[in-house]
Amino acid sequence: MISRIQEIPVNVRNMTHGDLASVSDIERLSYDFPWSHGVFRDCLLAGYGCMVLERGSAVVGYGILSIAAGEAHILNLCVASEFRGLGYGERILDDIVERAHYAGVGTIFLEVRPTNANALSLYRKKGFHKIAKRPAYYQATGGREDADVLSLVLRHSES
Ligand SMILES: CC(C)(COP(=O)(O)OP(=O)(O)OC[C@H]1O[C@@H](n2cnc3c(N)ncnc32)[C@H](O)[C@@H]1OP(=O)(O)O)[C@@H](O)C(=O)NCCC(=O)NCCS
Repeated sequence: MISRIQEIPVNVRNMTHGDLASVSDIERLSYDFPWSHGVFRDCLLAGYGCMVLERGSAVVGYGILSIAAGEAHILNLCVASEFRGLGYGERILDDIVERAHYAGVGTIFLEVRPTNANALSLYRKKGFHKIAKRPAYYQATGGREDADVLSLVLRHSES
């Protein structure tokens, strides 16, 4: 008998208020200093680019992007720990970059902890470069931690 492996569909879509509980749960389990449910709600209310990655019907990752004055800022990017290493973070980041491109953005910026090797590797893979350091930007156990500021310049064809 031929058995068929059922592939679970993966899809990136806009976040809704109904996703906030799942998103907050992933956030709480992923960061030492997580965003609250209210911060995600405010991002939705503010009209930020808020997206989730769905695997089947389960939300397993998300990204938050703010766009203003021709620049974009990635405010959050996260995949639930049990689903990391499967290309989902890259998929959300590709979606973020595509949205910024269609919005006519020139440069995308983000902050990342210099100790976050996995995230740094992902951003470098997608062409981001370090442009600055923000001293004492992050809360950290027993004090503050610097942030690396990374950027990606988007190319727009002239027409
Ligand atoms: C950073 C994060 C979003 C990456 O998501 P992911 O789904 O695990 O990453 P992907 O499977 O899409 O991997 C894409 C690339 O990321 C890098 N990467 C991801 N996991 C890695 C690991 N364990 N070791 C080294 N590099 C890694 C690699 O460059 C990888 O490309 P490759 O597969 O060609 O080597 C995820 O680790 C996460 O949610 N971390 C906690 C939250 C966080 O720190 N977010 C970033 C805040 S700035």
